[in-house]
Amino acid sequence: MIIAIDGPAGAGKSTVAKGVASALGFRYLDSGAMYRALGLSLSRSDGDPAERARAITIELGDRVLLDGRDVTSDIRTPEASEAASRVATQKDVRAALVEKQRQMLHDGGDWVAEGRDIGTVVAPDATLKLYLTASPEARARRRAEELGADYEVVLRDQALRDQQDQEREHSPLTAAEDAVELDTSDLTVDQVVERIAELAHERQKA
Ligand code: CDP
Repeated sequence: MIIAIDGPAGAGKSTVAKGVASALGFRYLDSGAMYRALGLSLSRSDGDPAERARAITIELGDRVLLDGRDVTSDIRTPEASEAASRVATQKDVRAALVEKQRQMLHDGGDWVAEGRDIGTVVAPDATLKLYLTASPEARARRRAEELGADYEVVLRDQALRDQQDQEREHSPLTAAEDAVELDTSDLTVDQVVERIAELAHERQKA
């Protein structure tokens, strides 16, 4: 079974997706980490983004490896976030990374895959699709706490990234028609994980 979790920055996708994967014993695919690793690679050395996307090797797990090198913390900086969001606007870049993501999912087994376009593009046949949202303020508060950064700065950066993600021509951020929408503003991580695990069990029985 594939569970697709999409939504904007700071809606709690990563924490929730990891929690669901661990609760159900599924594998976890963090597609954002791939856009981040590519953005980081291009900021370190210039080149054609799509060619680079095809050429690099990205390994996901407890650590994120870019061509064998550990970039787990380097991809989480505000600069890497912005580089990821920028490079993610390009059609050929998306095609290359979507291809890598589909290969992982089609290797088999059960997956929780998280990103912006999992339910719409990467795995439209996913058994369960979630679209996580939260108010901009709740999202920025969480992100500022996580990064130990200034709330106002995070709120501003987030608005820019939201706009970039929603208005881009190729695979803009949007909920799949058959996605279950969950507003996490007033829910704890455990509550969200529990709800998704319940939904997964229901689908499994159906
Ligand atoms: O953790 P956060 O939600 O802030 O971001 P992320 O999931 O790590 O993704 C970083 C950036 O990559 C996003 O702002 C998107 O522009 C892009 N992205 C995408 O376009 N498609 C995906 N499936 C995942 C990420």
